[in-house]
Amino acid sequence: MSQLKNDLLLRTLRGEKTERTPVWMMRQAGRYLPDYMKLKEKYSFFQRCQTPELATEITIQPVEQVGVDAAIIFSDILVVPQAMGLEVEMIEGKGPLLPQPIKNQKDLARLHLPDVEASLGYVFDALRLTKKTLDGRVPLIGFAGAPWTLLCYMVQGKGSKTFDEAKIFCYTQPEAAHQLLQMITDTTIAYLKGQARAGADVVQIFDSWGGLLGPDDFENLSLKYIRQIVHALKNVRKTGSEQNIARFTEKSNVGRPSEDLLRHGPPRSEPSQGSVPDNEPPVRSEDEVLTIIFAKGAWSSLEGMAATGAHGLGIDWCIRPQMARQLAGPKVTLQGNFDPAKLLSPIPVIQKEVRAMMDAFKGHPHIANLGHGILPDVPVDHARAFVQAVKDYR
Ligand code: CP3
Repeated sequence: MSQLKNDLLLRTLRGEKTERTPVWMMRQAGRYLPDYMKLKEKYSFFQRCQTPELATEITIQPVEQVGVDAAIIFSDILVVPQAMGLEVEMIEGKGPLLPQPIKNQKDLARLHLPDVEASLGYVFDALRLTKKTLDGRVPLIGFAGAPWTLLCYMVQGKGSKTFDEAKIFCYTQPEAAHQLLQMITDTTIAYLKGQARAGADVVQIFDSWGGLLGPDDFENLSLKYIRQIVHALKNVRKTGSEQNIARFTEKSNVGRPSEDLLRHGPPRSEPSQGSVPDNEPPVRSEDEVLTIIFAKGAWSSLEGMAATGAHGLGIDWCIRPQMARQLAGPKVTLQGNFDPAKLLSPIPVIQKEVRAMMDAFKGHPHIANLGHGILPDVPVDHARAFVQAVKDYR
């Protein structure tokens, strides 16, 4: 495995002082990139996710075209409910649709704890191939949805501004809700361990709907489960070893999606056990997978999130970085928090606003990012200007 040439993100997450602030953008692989749109015309959403060659190509596009300091694997948070047995469709122009959502205790019987190697092995294959293709240029981020955010989609059945059906399910059927949250948590732990073994240097937990819950409900329905995930990932060794990569490349025709792959789906990895064997030496901090929690809008729980021991916490633009720092404490790395809509401003305005953001985070470990995903209509040169402005900041 080649050494990372740019490990700014990893050193910042470990709390080290670095020569400059690393930068990447949530949802950086996607619709604002013309090369992504070309692949979107040819392949369905899940075909793009499930074909490692396509996922790798899409993952690397923003590294090459926008100059970000990290790659995030192209996939979706909803592959987990899919692996647990729920049907998930991606409707063009509308977003996700789960035609048979979970409504009560009885519906839980339709779900199962999946063997992640068998059902999500294509994500591990995509990570291995991406790691190999990146050849150490930048670190690779894996991810999963937080249990609460996945429950929102699994119960509501589609996107929503309020996810009221999901909340009512939790408040009126708490036992079923906690069973579901625990099932998602157990699946996610196995899934993120698999991602680390496949070469993810960092994993981010997306709790996009955390801000819909009051502080006590956030603790009870979200943070309690995120904490289990963060703890389970402590001392998990990331590998991305030559052996792992060889296992993938032997079986597939690296570089272009073969007809065979598109017809029969991705190759399967060898099944493996869920945890690192006991007889291995202790994990050095450089080998440990690093964790970031992004719970959008849940700033009133920053202190509790910092106490989980996660390495980084994402924040959106509705909280001042100085206030987030007071709540989260001096140590944890903060990530954010540029308003994504501001990327549609003229470039000189973007440059000025980036400097203001950087000033506000100064003095403590910071990863520059947006406060939520990039919008589809952002011109590529504006995304590039954002990244460059962070790199130029002194
Ligand atoms: O960040 C990246 O570049 C990696 C790819 C990525 C996607 N989804 C690809 C995608 C990541 C990290 C996600 C996470 C995700 N998916 C979240 C959490 C982050 C957030 O934005 O809050 C959520 C809530 C989802 C669920 C989801 N997937 C929705 C609501 C939608 C439709 C609306 C939208 O944002 O497009 C998707 C579809 C989706 N996932 C697309 C992409 C590129 C767009 C569809 C397409 O290009 O065909």
